[in-house]
Amino acid sequence: MLTKVKTCAIVGLEGAIVEVEVDISPGLPAFNIVGLPDTAVQEARERVRAAIRNSGCEFPVRRITVNLAPADLKKEGPAYDLPIAVGILKSSGQLPSEEDTHLYLGELSLDGGVRHTRGILPMVALARDEGFAQVFVPSADAREAALVEGTTIRPVESLEGLVAHLRGEQAIQPHQMDDSLLSTEGAAPRGPDLSHVKGQEHAKRALEVAASGGHNLIMTGPPGSGKTLLARTLPSILPTMAPEEALEATKIYSITGLLPSDQPFIRQRPFRSPHYTTSHAGLVGGGRTPRPGEITLAHRGVLFLDELPEFGHTALESLRQPMEDHVVTISRAQWNVTFPCNFMLVGAMNPCPCGYYGDPKKECSCSPSMVSKYQRRISGPLMDRMDVFVEVPSVEYEKLVDSDQGEGSASVQKRVEAAREVQRVRFQGSSMASNAEMGPAEVWEFCQVDEGAQGLLQAAMNQLNLSARAFHRVLKLSRTIADLAGSDSINIAHLAEALQYRPRWME
Ligand SMILES: Nc1ncnc2c1ncn2[C@@H]1O[C@H](COP(=O)(O)OP(=O)(O)O)[C@@H](O)[C@H]1O
Ligand SMILES: [Mg+2]
Repeated sequence: MLTKVKTCAIVGLEGAIVEVEVDISPGLPAFNIVGLPDTAVQEARERVRAAIRNSGCEFPVRRITVNLAPADLKKEGPAYDLPIAVGILKSSGQLPSEEDTHLYLGELSLDGGVRHTRGILPMVALARDEGFAQVFVPSADAREAALVEGTTIRPVESLEGLVAHLRGEQAIQPHQMDDSLLSTEGAAPRGPDLSHVKGQEHAKRALEVAASGGHNLIMTGPPGSGKTLLARTLPSILPTMAPEEALEATKIYSITGLLPSDQPFIRQRPFRSPHYTTSHAGLVGGGRTPRPGEITLAHRGVLFLDELPEFGHTALESLRQPMEDHVVTISRAQWNVTFPCNFMLVGAMNPCPCGYYGDPKKECSCSPSMVSKYQRRISGPLMDRMDVFVEVPSVEYEKLVDSDQGEGSASVQKRVEAAREVQRVRFQGSSMASNAEMGPAEVWEFCQVDEGAQGLLQAAMNQLNLSARAFHRVLKLSRTIADLAGSDSINIAHLAEALQYRPRWME
């Protein structure tokens, strides 16, 4: 007999409905899965066979054919176990076989237990949109699934429990959504607090400005001056995430299997700091079945590249296009997938191989050609995409032992939040969230400097020899500085501060 059961696949970041057709016919015993399955799906045969036997059911000794439709969609991973098992039990008359509006997701273990499965959130979201009334998910993932409202989530502990439910013997109770999970407020900040960083007032201010407008930032300075420490304070001053942003990030972490099961909702902006040995695919995404890379994991948050020149030319070049488009497309022979990657780039580097070029106290031991070769590792075009350049000199002894606590992250974060609120209102109805995302039209509309600042702008253009892109970046940065000051217009002080963040080296 032929039966059909519905399940879901992941394509890029979205789900796609898959129909599991099971046909059981007389003949030599066989069990085949067709419809572009990968090895993990092929292995489902062994898991499903054992799970059915160990759940008090019978595995039919006949000719079983499973077709996963549509056939042109690549099926990967073990999430098809549960729907295949249900299809076989229906087809062999062990479960009522009428068509239903259920969707089944989950990997089986040999004893019939249902295991944690990746990508539950986007799959359940699709099921809801497609009008499925009930979704059966692994009980470990029920909290994640319940983030989607508008469909009934039934957490499945084991195949045996599901069989009892479908036979009407013992119902599985729907999982109730826990609203407190969804709040993006009040999440404890991670990482060090700004008050732990002594001195470096200039760098702290630069971090505040960058966080306020979502601008890219690069820090240079000798080893041990606190660049890494400063970058790690960023999560504590970043603006809170809007619920839609949090949901986007959660989807990404769900399909990569990185969601912690005790907190299935990403409430804070991601902070990713990949090591410079990370592969190209690890950084921008890729693989045989494309997976998001670090730039996508940093979506709506920060990508921190420590020791920037060590990343190498190719890796840094590969960031240029995604930084511009906020999406990255990975092409494969049969299909393309697109992942979002709207992040704030923060880089840290020494000014030269020994680290002391330009240091007032310690002499640099590098030859001029070594210095320029080192700095050239970071390409001009990437530099052109940076907004805030900040020098982080070594801290003086007096500052380091000063018992005065500087301003803490909490009050800085309040100012950042207020500046973001201004931007939220400004960009209402568009897809933009921050000043950094403005295009030429918005720069023209929102970033006119007032009369007093015109002269400085013109002088800066001529003297600093800014490219058109750099010119726009200065204006956007000025806009953010004005927003932080609660000012509608951009005046000469705002512009002057923005110009301070242009690089003094490499030009
Ligand atoms: N400004 C500072 N205030 C307090 N501690 C600092 C400061 N700068 C550096 N440190 C201490 O030195 C350590 C190394 O700093 P780090 O941020 O790794 O330097 P860098 O990345 O510039 O080489 C930090 O973990 C911290 O303990
Ligand atoms: Mg460091």
